[in-house]
Amino acid sequence: MALTYPNPRLEDGVVLLRPWEEQDLALLERGSRDDYVAEIEHLPVPFDDEGGRKWIARQHAHMENGRGWTFAILELATGEAVGGVGLLFRHPPGAAEPGVWVVAEKGGHGIAERATRLLCRWALTTETGIARLQATVAPWNLPSQRVLEKVGFVREGLLRAYASWRGSPQDVLLYSLLARDLDDASPLVAEAQPASADPAGAAQISRLQERLATAFISALRERLVALVAYGSSVEGSFIPHFSDFDLAVFLHGEFTVEDAIAVQAALGDLEPTPFDYLQTKFVDVSAVATPTLVPGSFAVFWGELPAEPAYLHNPDLLRQAGKRWLDALPGLIADDRAAWSVAAGSARRQRLVRLMMTRLKPALRSLLVEHGEPPAEVWISGWHQLARRWRDHDAAAAEALDSVLTVLPSSGREQEVACGETVLRLLAQIEMAARASSSTN
Ligand SMILES: CC(C)(COP(=O)(O)OP(=O)(O)OC[C@H]1O[C@@H](n2cnc3c(N)ncnc32)[C@H](O)[C@@H]1OP(=O)(O)O)[C@@H](O)C(=O)NCCC(=O)NCCS
Repeated sequence: MALTYPNPRLEDGVVLLRPWEEQDLALLERGSRDDYVAEIEHLPVPFDDEGGRKWIARQHAHMENGRGWTFAILELATGEAVGGVGLLFRHPPGAAEPGVWVVAEKGGHGIAERATRLLCRWALTTETGIARLQATVAPWNLPSQRVLEKVGFVREGLLRAYASWRGSPQDVLLYSLLARDLDDASPLVAEAQPASADPAGAAQISRLQERLATAFISALRERLVALVAYGSSVEGSFIPHFSDFDLAVFLHGEFTVEDAIAVQAALGDLEPTPFDYLQTKFVDVSAVATPTLVPGSFAVFWGELPAEPAYLHNPDLLRQAGKRWLDALPGLIADDRAAWSVAAGSARRQRLVRLMMTRLKPALRSLLVEHGEPPAEVWISGWHQLARRWRDHDAAAAEALDSVLTVLPSSGREQEVACGETVLRLLAQIEMAARASSSTN
């Protein structure tokens, strides 16, 4: 059965997915120079325009024959095509497999992540009939694994000698993504410090919220449903130069590039805020409602959340999210170690922030839940509360975490290096404790 192109077109304000066109021949020629891309995409080598045109015709035929969808990835800022992304039906019946590639010069800017997320989210939330997306990745292909993990794919295991690569059998890692994983991958949770809120900081936060509300109202008008602060922005407390301001925008429809430009224009220059950056998540209330918020860890500062329970995680969902986190941890730690070993200068502090916020905190929360602590309370706990809970299970580890929290706000180079090492060690301890706990359960 013939398939149709997504309508409206898939874009997220940074990239747009569009059907392949004759004008993409130059991009395909660049792709064909990378052996691996040429092989997985079946690009003609050596490349010529005739072969390129046939390749483009085959992409359109995939849709006509019901095999799947493939698109060029367009970078909106430059209007340039920078890679390809697709979803093809393979095995088992009803499941589809994503594939993505990006030209080397544009790598490392989240383009593959954005393109994959757009396509996968669309496939799982519209009438495609797809219940499972499944990806197989070579164990050496760390960037590709990272892309899948960032999108929310769950690693299911290693398939031994499953694929054939240039005539020899090869192991592959199996990943999958289901509709319910889409938002579970990053529940919006508190990252607040204990309520020793600094009043000056709290006043800055409320001014920032007012500015954001004015800008989003003027840009989105009746499409805006609610503005939600979570994380540090709820309590008004933070570690200087350590936190982001987390904002969730609930709206009707997708947040488009035109919307982004309108918000920027209305926002103008913000006065300095206590945050390093603003992190924004968009929730389309016209799509299927999936849990994104953790009860008690967010504050609606403009508008009203529709049918709120649909957006709230319950203890079971948090427990499942925690288990998936712990399962994924070994792979994530290996990547972190590699990234940390080469982080230097200002990038080192950013890496440390990410290690703490996006690894240690969710890993520790998940472990504490695994140890029987109440999920909802653990998920809204700040750092010091987490350390206190950890003390009951592992006093030495909790003490090491306390020491990191004490030196971090003012840390210089040497302290940063030492903190990073401690955090990596703590992550390894969590991984071991999780393994021990799952083998006794
Ligand atoms: C895989 C590929 C699509 C990634 O494209 P991209 O636009 O650079 O991807 P993103 O920027 O979204 O993410 C790449 C991630 O990999 C990480 N990464 C890059 N090199 C890495 C390495 N050697 N070890 C660990 N992680 C690495 C990046 O840090 C980034 O993660 P982060 O956002 O957490 O920092 C691109 O490298 C490519 O085209 N490769 C060849 C084709 C291919 O392998 N396709 C997948 C087939 S299954």
